[in-house]
Amino acid sequence: MLSGKNIIIGITGSIAAYKAALLIRLLVKEGANVKVIMTDGAQQFITPLTISTLAKSDVITTYVANDVTGKWNNHVELGLWADYMIVAPATANTLAKMANGICDHVLLATYLSARCPVAIAPAMDLDMYQHPTTKSNLKTLINHHVQIIPAGVGELASGLSGEGRMAEPEEIVEFLQKRLSKSKKGKAVISAGPTFEAIDPVRFIGNHSSGKMGFALAHEAASRGWEVTLVTGPTSQEIENSSINRIDVVSAAEMLRALSNEVDDATLLIMSAAVADYKPKFVADQKIKKAASEATIELGPTTDILATLGAQKKEHQCFVGFALETENELAHAQGKLERKNLDFIVLNSLNNKGAGFGHDTNKITIIGKDTKPVEFELKSKEAVAYDIFNHIDENHNS
Ligand code: CTP
Repeated sequence: MLSGKNIIIGITGSIAAYKAALLIRLLVKEGANVKVIMTDGAQQFITPLTISTLAKSDVITTYVANDVTGKWNNHVELGLWADYMIVAPATANTLAKMANGICDHVLLATYLSARCPVAIAPAMDLDMYQHPTTKSNLKTLINHHVQIIPAGVGELASGLSGEGRMAEPEEIVEFLQKRLSKSKKGKAVISAGPTFEAIDPVRFIGNHSSGKMGFALAHEAASRGWEVTLVTGPTSQEIENSSINRIDVVSAAEMLRALSNEVDDATLLIMSAAVADYKPKFVADQKIKKAASEATIELGPTTDILATLGAQKKEHQCFVGFALETENELAHAQGKLERKNLDFIVLNSLNNKGAGFGHDTNKITIIGKDTKPVEFELKSKEAVAYDIFNHIDENHNS
């Protein structure tokens, strides 16, 4: 399935370097063209001879290939040649350098010049992985669109809170297959963030949704070949992937209008926005002045966007909702799945530390209209987005 694909594997100095040998063997078996760059550290764990034999190409270890003839390893050309660059294992040292633009090795220069997607499979001991510096470096890399390859199905497979164990070679191959064998998938519409409901020109009712989950879903969808439209409430999140069509809205009514326009020709709708259920009945034209006595704001319901769209869902369309519950979670989520005519509902439990609003991590259970609930571990929102798309790919039949 990877036949003819050009893949750069960067190996750095971790005991998990032996797994890179297996990874390269699997990639070559799948028909990929593999070029390998090894740091000095990597060569203390595994020899270039082993790797070059498996990769069927010379291993690159330095900027200068031959200092007599002046032949050098052109990192710019390498970066243009590749369809994907994977650094596996990626040590704390290498990912720190990547996050900071240091290029004291040809591996790092290739990363900086690469035009293709880049992913890393971190490997280090737990304390190093959990150090705030490493965490913030991983965050920087995620912001720069480096993908973190999750380790372990059903384990702490996050880029931010995992154990630091490197993903298995088979998992990395699957990760690549999902992205490189992408066929045109059609249009995905994703909603994100909170909505703000105006009280007067300067005040509103809102909520703490950061928009992170919806943005992670949009990035994941785009990297799998979907044509993505992201409709988002007010958030500080940014989209750097220029292929994503971003539409900014403020209120639930605006979000409904934008989504109604966009969803008609879409195949997939994922509604991760935290839409206000109520809005002030009357919006004051002028700033409301302070009065001596207490004040009351009268509220009226907003439209349930997902239920409205769900009622008009076409047969080939797949609609996914989110449910935030604090008690009787499965039953409530199941009820929403049916009431809103959804194919899947992603249950967010607030009973878990580190999950939900304002956190970088999330713990979910996915319930399908034809599938049993599947529970996932606490993971980074990027890793959760990866799980959600895998689940939809595997369980939706259209
Ligand atoms: N939703 C929506 N429009 C609303 C409220 C919610 O489209 N006015 C969507 C959310 O984006 C989410 C799903 O419906 O995908 C469930 O949202 P949730 O707040 O959990 O449920 P509600 O239907 O609002 O029910 P309740 O607040 O009573 O739990």
